Amino acid sequence: MTAPRPSRPAWVPAAALLPLRLFFGATFLYAGLDKLFDPAFLDPSSPASIYAQLGNFARYSPLSALIRLSEPYAAPIGVAIAVAEIGVGIGALSGLAFRLAAAGGAALSLLFWLAASWSTHPYYFGQDLPYAAGWIVLALAGHDNLMVLRRLPGLRKTVPIGPEPAAALLSRRAVLETAVLAVTSVVVASATLPIRLLGGLAGGVGSPSPSPRVSPPPGEGLAIARIDDLIEQASLSFRVPFDAPSPLPAGDPGVIVRLPDGRFVAYDALCPHQGCPVAWDAADQVLLCPCHGATFDAGDGGRALGGPTIQSLAVLPITIDPATGTISLAG
Ligand code: FES
Repeated sequence: MTAPRPSRPAWVPAAALLPLRLFFGATFLYAGLDKLFDPAFLDPSSPASIYAQLGNFARYSPLSALIRLSEPYAAPIGVAIAVAEIGVGIGALSGLAFRLAAAGGAALSLLFWLAASWSTHPYYFGQDLPYAAGWIVLALAGHDNLMVLRRLPGLRKTVPIGPEPAAALLSRRAVLETAVLAVTSVVVASATLPIRLLGGLAGGVGSPSPSPRVSPPPGEGLAIARIDDLIEQASLSFRVPFDAPSPLPAGDPGVIVRLPDGRFVAYDALCPHQGCPVAWDAADQVLLCPCHGATFDAGDGGRALGGPTIQSLAVLPITIDPATGTISLAG
């Protein structure tokens, strides 16, 4: 006769999922609040804004046509995404409309994957697919199966069986929880506005940070620098006026580099991975993205050298006036 196998306490699987739930909930709540607190997020002139992000996503995403259509509505879309992230985070942490919140987290993560991480190579460098997989696990597990305290030995002897996922989503309680979660999310999101205003007045949270800008010197074409500007330093960041006809998409930062062989080259400085501005790294003689470490060969058409993208930087054609030393973007 074989000895009975020891059974695992019922709360162990639930406890195992708790770190995932806490991390995902806190991260999505933070991500939503961070967007609403960030003065650059809704500032059309900032390369970190939702306007610039949509423009960058549209270049590589399979949803490009949809993203282009949505660009005029960038601000409400950005706010809606932030509020949705807050709702997902609160739902995951509190258990309100838990399955719906987790399903929303999965949907948002898949959307971010298609829009933002699509160009990440190899795919496992991207963060959105793992988030989507984790949210799907939580949506399938449901809140009832995660009530760790109800399952601790001595607190409750019997474990209630939660409703089937479909029934749980449609019950009267679920509808009520969804309404409470939606109202709570909007209230929390709205609370960021007065805090931002107060922070802005005090020069703290919400005060806009100055963005580097080169005043184009006068001359033919769209002047971006002079050769003299690039004697002491090997590179210069620049922006162009929004209404100026330019090969640089509106709002994108540009970077011009004096190469060791004396040539000048210019690029759209937005990293093709997720849109951080790249900068010249004098030590390694590459254009380096500070966000996830992508590097690009400035002397070889902005070719990706390493990091989570294989896309090159966009080359900006330039002309140099030998008489004045003015470097201009060619039309
Ligand atoms: Fe990720 Fe540049 S934004 S490497």
